[in-house]
Amino acid sequence: MSSKGSSLIEAKKLCKSYFNEGLETPVLFDIDLTINSGEFVAIMGPSGSGKSTLMHILGFLDHFTSGSYLFHDEPVLRMNDDDLAKIRATRVSFVFQAFNLLPRTSVLENVLLPLLYHPTIAASERMDRAMKAIATVGLTDRAKYLSNQLSGGQKQRVAIARALVTEPEVIFADEPTGNLDSVSGRQVMEAVQQLHEHGHTIILVTHERTTAEHAERIIHIRDGRIQEDTKSFKRRLAKEASTLAK
Ligand SMILES: Nc1ncnc2c1ncn2[C@@H]1O[C@H](COP(=O)(O)OP(=O)(O)O)[C@@H](O)[C@H]1O
Ligand SMILES: [Mg+2]
Repeated sequence: MSSKGSSLIEAKKLCKSYFNEGLETPVLFDIDLTINSGEFVAIMGPSGSGKSTLMHILGFLDHFTSGSYLFHDEPVLRMNDDDLAKIRATRVSFVFQAFNLLPRTSVLENVLLPLLYHPTIAASERMDRAMKAIATVGLTDRAKYLSNQLSGGQKQRVAIARALVTEPEVIFADEPTGNLDSVSGRQVMEAVQQLHEHGHTIILVTHERTTAEHAERIIHIRDGRIQEDTKSFKRRLAKEASTLAK
């Protein structure tokens, strides 16, 4: 992983429109955003405000229409398909609201999957890595279960294990607690928090304030524009407490 605090993501005047049958739907407008390695950022905003679109662009799943995006100071526009495929396989991963696990497939196989596409992790290392990732989310005793034999919260923890197994720099999570009850949601957020503590950069999309408060920084978007970019309440509180303690 790259050194903590260096610029990882730098978007300047990023715009995105969708085009359907000649019809343009502008969705993101002049997004200026810098995220450093090791940060835990929440992106909040109402439904339809462009959160997922922004996350897909920053995670190399979608193209932007204009502006610039630098990843580790490298212009993304200058990357070719091979560069992009390599970044997707090694440096970023995703956790989605709908879990997106392979059905009728074991927990272990789901978590092994990203390793099959990894260019540098040896086949002999795969099993060990997968079992470690499964242990991180507390599901060792469920490794042989089929994904459809798990609760929603367990499924999402498998999705987190699958996201962390390649040790990516950035983990993008789009409404990871959106389909969960509050107890499972909290467990999933504890797992996300742990990833952050291990040095992964976390970019979390949510419309829930309590979920966003796990982050250090909260970016509000509305109608495709950044409205506010602030330290989270929790973070401000911790800082204040440490000042008072001095
Ligand atoms: N493939 C698409 N084609 C056209 N419009 C889209 C497409 N995907 C999303 N949109 C529109 O872009 C806007 C932002 O969507 P999205 O990024 O999913 O918002 P959020 O994640 O904040 O709910 C919405 O108005 C949505 O209808
Ligand atoms: Mg969304």
